[in-house]
Amino acid sequence: MKIFIGADHGGFELKEKIKDFLVKNKFETEDTGSIVYDKTDDYPDLTINLAQKVTATPGSKGIMICGSGVGACVAANKIKGIRACVCHDTYSAHQGVEHDNMNVLCLGGRIVGYELAFEIVGAFVRAEFSNEERHIRRLEKVLKLEN
Ligand code: RB5
Repeated sequence: MKIFIGADHGGFELKEKIKDFLVKNKFETEDTGSIVYDKTDDYPDLTINLAQKVTATPGSKGIMICGSGVGACVAANKIKGIRACVCHDTYSAHQGVEHDNMNVLCLGGRIVGYELAFEIVGAFVRAEFSNEERHIRRLEKVLKLEN
């Protein structure tokens, strides 16, 4: 499964650490930028870049990091087909995939430390949608809102 990872300047340092973690754990990983630290970059530009890659690559997931995770999450959810959330705990990171088919995890580079972030990312990338009837029904209702 392909994992796209991106960040603005607020999440750049954590992105680099998580990228190493994913590669070390043999996940196919693509950095969608920012590739170099740029304190003037804007999270909507970088988030849209990542979100479009996720929607264009069936079965993929994205990890988007800004200072708090909030801006990235707000922007990502504007893209059709994206179900993004800020998760700073492991339960939400896997349950969000299992029940809600979350496909983009947003993190705050100024909020979580590396070790907790690695555990959250691990929970997110390993989780799969449950395909249970009640969750499919609820997701169809979300899809109706999107459309
Ligand atoms: C950038 O300074 C910061 O505002 C951004 O990374 C993010 O936290 C927005 O939600």
